Amino acid sequence: MTDTRKLPIGVFDSGIGGLTVLRAIQDLLPAESTIYLGDTARVPYGTKSREVVTRYAINNADFLVEQGIKLLVVACNTASSVALNTLKTHYQLPVLGVIEPGARRACEITQSNVVGVIGTEATIASEAYQQALRGIKPDLTILARSCPLFVPLAEEGWLAHPITNQISRVYLTDWALDGLDTLILGCTHYPVLVASIKTAVKPSVTLLDSASVVAKTVHDLLKRQNLARDPDSDQARHVYYVTDVPERFRRVGEIFLQRPLSEVIQVDIEPAGRS
Ligand code: DGL
Repeated sequence: MTDTRKLPIGVFDSGIGGLTVLRAIQDLLPAESTIYLGDTARVPYGTKSREVVTRYAINNADFLVEQGIKLLVVACNTASSVALNTLKTHYQLPVLGVIEPGARRACEITQSNVVGVIGTEATIASEAYQQALRGIKPDLTILARSCPLFVPLAEEGWLAHPITNQISRVYLTDWALDGLDTLILGCTHYPVLVASIKTAVKPSVTLLDSASVVAKTVHDLLKRQNLARDPDSDQARHVYYVTDVPERFRRVGEIFLQRPLSEVIQVDIEPAGRS
């Protein structure tokens, strides 16, 4: 019988953004093997409808579950916002999203009780963050805005580029007057744009990237459910799959992951009959 504890953790995103979450998981849990899927053929998700993103999320999860995983991490705010409950009911294994851990942390950090959240159009329109934040702290003032140009800039690797700084300012400078002290980066692509985003908000604003909180949540869940891999077992293995050619993913992904991307394999995950 397979020892479930030895199975890898499955992580997916629409592209390279989820590597920011994966990095935090690999750093915190070096004994754990991981399988990452970047749906690079169909990125971006943030401009697509709830139905389409849910269908993509199920394809991604089906692929990872077929590989044999013990836990699924939806390292994409857009998919977490619209498809998490569907995924949770669809599979037998634990499924973790990125919204709730980030919202919880923001509520712990804020002093002014004014929290901002930026994300894709789909994430902001779903109100998933707004509901999670209000559920934890009903008296919060929440500022929410979609920043759709950030994902292509991150995918392009234009991280602290003058154009990125300018776009950050267009999106965010008007919040400088609103008492905001905590800004949730509600898209896993955004943490690599932190230098640019900082140029557009007050220096006192905490930029909250949910990667480390998600990694901690993964750690706690593995422990609680007796799913953690024995630290003395063989070296952890990390495999990366993409749905389009791997070159760009490898090049830009190394910036996100901050380490070389060894094995990147292209796969077709669309069920037969769909184009
Ligand atoms: N990185 C994803 C997120 O956290 C999605 C970006 C996109 O595909 O639009 O929302």
